[in-house]
Amino acid sequence: MKKNANAPSEEINLAYTVPKLKDFSPAALDKAVEKLLAALDKEPVALTGEDQRKAFRDRWLARKDGILMQVNELWLKAAPKEAKREVGQRVNKLKAEVEAKVEAALAMAPATKGESAIDISLPGIRRPIGAEHPIIRTQNEIIAVFRNLGYSVAEGPVIETDYYNFEALNFPPNHPARDTQDTLFIAGQESKPRREQLLLRTHTSPVQIRTMEKMKPPLRILVPGKVHRNDPPDASHSPMFHQVEGLAVDTKITFGDLKGTLDHAMKALFGSDVKTSFRPSFFPFTEPSAEMFVSCFVCGGSGKRGDGNAPCRPCKQTGWIEILGCGMVDPNVFEFVKHNGYDPEKISGFAFGMGVDRIAMLKYGLDDLQLFFQGDVRFLQQFV
Ligand code: PHE
Repeated sequence: MKKNANAPSEEINLAYTVPKLKDFSPAALDKAVEKLLAALDKEPVALTGEDQRKAFRDRWLARKDGILMQVNELWLKAAPKEAKREVGQRVNKLKAEVEAKVEAALAMAPATKGESAIDISLPGIRRPIGAEHPIIRTQNEIIAVFRNLGYSVAEGPVIETDYYNFEALNFPPNHPARDTQDTLFIAGQESKPRREQLLLRTHTSPVQIRTMEKMKPPLRILVPGKVHRNDPPDASHSPMFHQVEGLAVDTKITFGDLKGTLDHAMKALFGSDVKTSFRPSFFPFTEPSAEMFVSCFVCGGSGKRGDGNAPCRPCKQTGWIEILGCGMVDPNVFEFVKHNGYDPEKISGFAFGMGVDRIAMLKYGLDDLQLFFQGDVRFLQQFV
């Protein structure tokens, strides 16, 4: 804007000043008008920039001390009574003429480039379209696999009670998983009974109970969501991460159903070549319990990479990657929802829970979990 402010303005006739009139005769007025219009005609040769345009308009039309204002003062107001009528008419005509000329001159001299003119050669303003975060995308892929098997999606609160997170999932009173080392409790609840105390859920399993309280069997649900544990962040840990939980309850559900379902799901997720392996484990809410491994889809199960003997990192050279925890729903868990049709004598079920973040890391070949949560657009753009 400032670029012409100090430029010499020789083309602009600043010399014109409104004269005081002594003679108010028509002939003298004609002469004065003629001089004024001649001065105006000479002016707008090169109006460059917004500053000059404004200065030009102000000099002629400004309410305070513009040339037309001065004409009003020096010619009309100063005119003797008997000439007022005549002078008034001429001044009015002159005003209209000057205004028209000034506007015409401004229209002829459009603002220069880069100021208020529109430069159609400039690139447009781009508003980037967002994309699914790689974790949400992975979560949706897992959901899609199970949707095809007839599962529906259930959700529950991230701030959970001790009852749903632990007690109704058959955690014995002093089980180490209740320890504050793992769990983030909400402060200041000492006066509440333990089962009502609030915490950040440490897994999505409480939604098993919440759903069974609301819906009668048979049931097939998938539960995606955020969970929290008191783990300091590093390349493979985060105090907040994501799980997808599964629960199937019906009459005569067996461990064979569990294995067949999960084996199918892993082939759908990681490719039809992967194998699954189930190893005994422990969870308070399943019995028996297992950890499920898939054959490493990076090295094909050999533990080695490339043609040489480079160690395969994702499977730590074992050829197997741990993917989830699972098991048959413990009858003690059904006891908590027996009133809603879950009689452990009549029904059975299996459950599983997997870490979405880990699966996403494996799928995209990442070695640092923190990349997901730093919000760096350069990282996220790669998934658009
Ligand atoms: N909730 C368990 C965990 O977070 C996983 C799991 C879910 C295990 C369902 C068995 C059945 O580790």
